[in-house]
Amino acid sequence: MNNIGIIGAGTMGVGIAQVAATAGCKVVLFDANTPQIDKALSGLEKTLQKLVDKAKISQEKATEIRNNIVKGEALQDLKDSDLVIEAIIENKDIKTKVFTELETYVSEDCIIGSNTSSISITSLGAELKKPERFIGIHFFNPAPLMPLVEVIPSLLTQKSLAEKIYNLMKDWKKMPVIAKDIPGFIVNRIARPYYGEGLRIVEENMATPEQVDEAMRALGNFKMGPFELMDLIGVDVNFAVTTTVYKDYFYDPKYKPSLLQQRMAEAKLHGRKTGKGFYDYSEGAEKPVAQKEDALYQQIFFRIISMLINEAVEAKRLGIANDEDIELAMQKGVNYPKGLLAWGKEIGYSKISETLQSLYEEYQEERYRQSPLLRKM
Ligand SMILES: NC(=O)c1ccc[n+]([C@@H]2O[C@H](COP(=O)([O-])OP(=O)(O)OC[C@H]3O[C@@H](n4cnc5c(N)ncnc54)[C@H](O)[C@@H]3O)[C@@H](O)[C@H]2O)c1
Repeated sequence: MNNIGIIGAGTMGVGIAQVAATAGCKVVLFDANTPQIDKALSGLEKTLQKLVDKAKISQEKATEIRNNIVKGEALQDLKDSDLVIEAIIENKDIKTKVFTELETYVSEDCIIGSNTSSISITSLGAELKKPERFIGIHFFNPAPLMPLVEVIPSLLTQKSLAEKIYNLMKDWKKMPVIAKDIPGFIVNRIARPYYGEGLRIVEENMATPEQVDEAMRALGNFKMGPFELMDLIGVDVNFAVTTTVYKDYFYDPKYKPSLLQQRMAEAKLHGRKTGKGFYDYSEGAEKPVAQKEDALYQQIFFRIISMLINEAVEAKRLGIANDEDIELAMQKGVNYPKGLLAWGKEIGYSKISETLQSLYEEYQEERYRQSPLLRKM
């Protein structure tokens, strides 16, 4: 698979183009907004120059990567692709329109992949003339740096295709995992309580965002606490993913979005990109210092980690992915310091179960229900 077409030259599209071009593939990069392609390519040139300056790659390699990517003037320019990866706006109707047009240009055996974070792969694939050629190929941001790729066959995907894409991702020096087509796939489903429970704790005035962040960094060794991370991802984007996952699980209370997060999104307090979110990023603004309280930090940490481990155990029970992939996904997709199943064993599954049981008794909410497998582990 040497000829790769990429649709969408935004954050993800150009990152994926860089990954494919680094692996020696010929890439045609197309975007409906033509100036965006030039912008993306000049951004890529700067990135490559930085890598050369830091001696991460040679000048020849940088030139080769850059020369492997050409600009597509129209969708038709992707006609010779062996594989097309779509990374456009997260909207099912717009994606479907693009796939319908694309299928009129590409060959019968061209594979079509989508980088969607939250739309059902089956629902997208079903709209194609040839649904068996369609598959989810979900990279993480920034694509050239994050090793994980979730490969998601739909109910209609040809059986051998997942393995083919899995092997291709390995050739592209990525760490692929195969996931079931369920809302949030592996990472975005298991990670939900990291944000959701953090938000709850703050909504209940139990702690401040900086205390929650500090507790997770200090006791859990997470690189970033939930609030810093939401500010980085975009409070609006994170809220949209939670809302989709909640809706797509038929309003399972476990994934209920937070009012606080909704208000933040409404106020356009989106985080770093708007200069203000849970923290202030304007010039001269000082980051608040968390007031350390050992007992509170323990409570915060156990509440959030128990919710995360419970999600990982439930993903195992449902066979959303195999154990190894569940562990790999959280470490290589969102930088968790350990696999959650191993972490559960280390803390003791009975302690996780007790923590959830006491939350359940206190709140009388389904949100804290345990995976049927947790008590057996
Ligand atoms: N940003 C992330 O962290 C992230 C991570 C994983 C997956 N994703 C998914 O990747 C996809 C792209 O996200 P992004 O963050 O790169 O978005 P983005 O807004 O940075 O880029 C999207 C690009 O698509 C182009 N576009 C829109 N409609 C188009 C059309 N009809 N034809 C061709 N081009 C069109 C836009 O001009 C834009 O340049 C989404 O499905 C998103 O859910 C995003």
